[in-house]
Amino acid sequence: MIILSPSILGADFTKLGEQVAEVDKAGAQYIHLDVMDGAFVPSISFGMPVIKSLRPVTDRVFDVHMMVEEPGRYVEDIKKAGADLICVHQEACLHLDRTIAQIREAGLQTGVALNPATPVETLDVILPEVDMVLLMTVNPGFGGQKFIPYTVEKIKKLRAMCSERGLSTRIEVDGGITPDNVRTVLEAGADVIVAGSAVFKGNPAGNVKTFLNIFQEFEQG
Ligand code: DX5
Ligand code: ZN
Repeated sequence: MIILSPSILGADFTKLGEQVAEVDKAGAQYIHLDVMDGAFVPSISFGMPVIKSLRPVTDRVFDVHMMVEEPGRYVEDIKKAGADLICVHQEACLHLDRTIAQIREAGLQTGVALNPATPVETLDVILPEVDMVLLMTVNPGFGGQKFIPYTVEKIKKLRAMCSERGLSTRIEVDGGITPDNVRTVLEAGADVIVAGSAVFKGNPAGNVKTFLNIFQEFEQG
């Protein structure tokens, strides 16, 4: 099944709860929460209090994307705030195996993220240990950037790596995804689609439906 994970970074923060409820009701299966520390990425976004305050609003999967140096320091706190899945950057973890094990031992789904310039071959060893790989399709740090076309080859390569090993690892793509380019990433093998601006600008419920219709067409076609 193809999953839509609206990134709340694109939402109107003055009505965050309402907008999360709206995309849930429209059928988005995950909610993507971008935590930024101003060190791993230039910007600072939000952390535990925001995640915690949104938890009662929806039962959807909280897909927490940690753009944070040494995110292992926060696994327990992010779990307590309400995460279902924690995704950490390979580039931000000196001991990636330990951090992934910490997430798994906390009872959460595990994810590892790669920046656009990090090759998928770096996942060779850790791949069987994670539920999901997040491939960044822009440089992390800001919403509303332009999709980087060379990342499509990375999605294809990673899907082939997973298939060769009989793994059904989810591949999430994040950054610059719109209804116009989403088919390209689906064809390449992505199955969890993050969209910030393309969901929250204009009519969030309508935008969610547009994505879900494209997914349905893709799955049937
Ligand atoms: C960027 C974040 C993304 C971002 C996506 O660093 O990881 O999740 O919110 O926003 P759009 O879809 O607008 O590129
Ligand atoms: Zn993200």
